[in-house]
Amino acid sequence: MIKAFLFDMDGVLADTEDISIAVGIEYFGSVGRKAEKSHFESHLGMGEYEFFMGTARELGLSISYKDASIFFKDHYEDIAKKKKIVLPGAVELIQNARKAGIKIAICSSAPEWKVYKNLELMGLSPESVDYVVSGADVKRSKPNPDIYQLALIRFGLAGDEALVFEDTVGGINAGKNAGCPVCSVTNTINSEKAFSVGADIVISDLSAIPAFSTMEEFWNIYKDYSGISSDAVLYGAGYITPLKRKLPDVYVEKNAIEAAWKAWDNAYSPYSKFKVGAAVVSAATGRIYSGCNVENSSYGATICAERNAITTAIAAEGKLGIDMLVVVSDDDPPAPPCAVCLQVIAEFAKPDSEVILVSLAGKKYKYKFSELLPKPFVFPTMRN
Ligand code: THU
Repeated sequence: MIKAFLFDMDGVLADTEDISIAVGIEYFGSVGRKAEKSHFESHLGMGEYEFFMGTARELGLSISYKDASIFFKDHYEDIAKKKKIVLPGAVELIQNARKAGIKIAICSSAPEWKVYKNLELMGLSPESVDYVVSGADVKRSKPNPDIYQLALIRFGLAGDEALVFEDTVGGINAGKNAGCPVCSVTNTINSEKAFSVGADIVISDLSAIPAFSTMEEFWNIYKDYSGISSDAVLYGAGYITPLKRKLPDVYVEKNAIEAAWKAWDNAYSPYSKFKVGAAVVSAATGRIYSGCNVENSSYGATICAERNAITTAIAAEGKLGIDMLVVVSDDDPPAPPCAVCLQVIAEFAKPDSEVILVSLAGKKYKYKFSELLPKPFVFPTMRN
């Protein structure tokens, strides 16, 4: 049973990276050096010391960490206040955990004041969490397990009784090194990376976790997500356990449409000059995969955007259940999937999977997959 949640903060609960970088840029400006975002990137998530000193090293500068740290504390709130830092689902998950009697620790390499400041900016009181372990409380930073071990000791729990929430390779390693299962969000790293370094569960963000009010309810959700449940559903030839959706529908839809337009922009269609973008939302993970059409001199060998998105999803997850499919084009009415694509989609969709067609002019049509292809061919041995 999972009895505690151990949260990394930056990139998991709060979107603070850009704020830290903005303050960092101001700081280096104050010592007469123009720093850019890229200078900070490889020094994130490892505590404030590395954030400043690593970046200074990269800039060939010698600075006083103490001065930088004071500057950071003095300027952080001013910049952070201007932005909504709370990430989707963070507050709800903490509130649900409270209700369920699940202990909550924040295990952040950041200084303690910043953790409390972020909680405040997220609209959470210090009492909404049970314990804060900060970078100053441990000698060794992530990927060492110390910060998570300290929380386990404080709660009197074994590693497998606490679920770690992380967003970086170092953080996932820290959680695994402490013997905990790790749930990674894909705010900072992508899903393949997260799985490859040992994450047990990968979700797009915390709002993918449905509401619960008891420890048992969360345990069932956890079993679903980590693939040890008996609720698996057959999609094509693969069993997957669908996430119960999760983000509000509008949010999933907005992200998928955005991803489809991004791919649309990359369409390789020098022959037809007709660009198509597609995005599929994976039922197992909530993750979004996109694709564009790719033509070639032998027209018939063209790959449509929908099939491109689907094969990308399979390459990442090994199997696929289509929760939602978005197709975007500069067509009026917006183009539906072609018949070849419909057959391929049929392999991975359920009759009630959502298909959303969007045009550049802003028209949007929503269908259930069964409306577009009521009678797909299903191979005899695959029929129910
Ligand atoms: N196309 C798609 O990408 N998806 C569809 O379902 C309809 C057609 C592309 C293929 C080709 O590159 C162009 O649109 C014109 O047929």
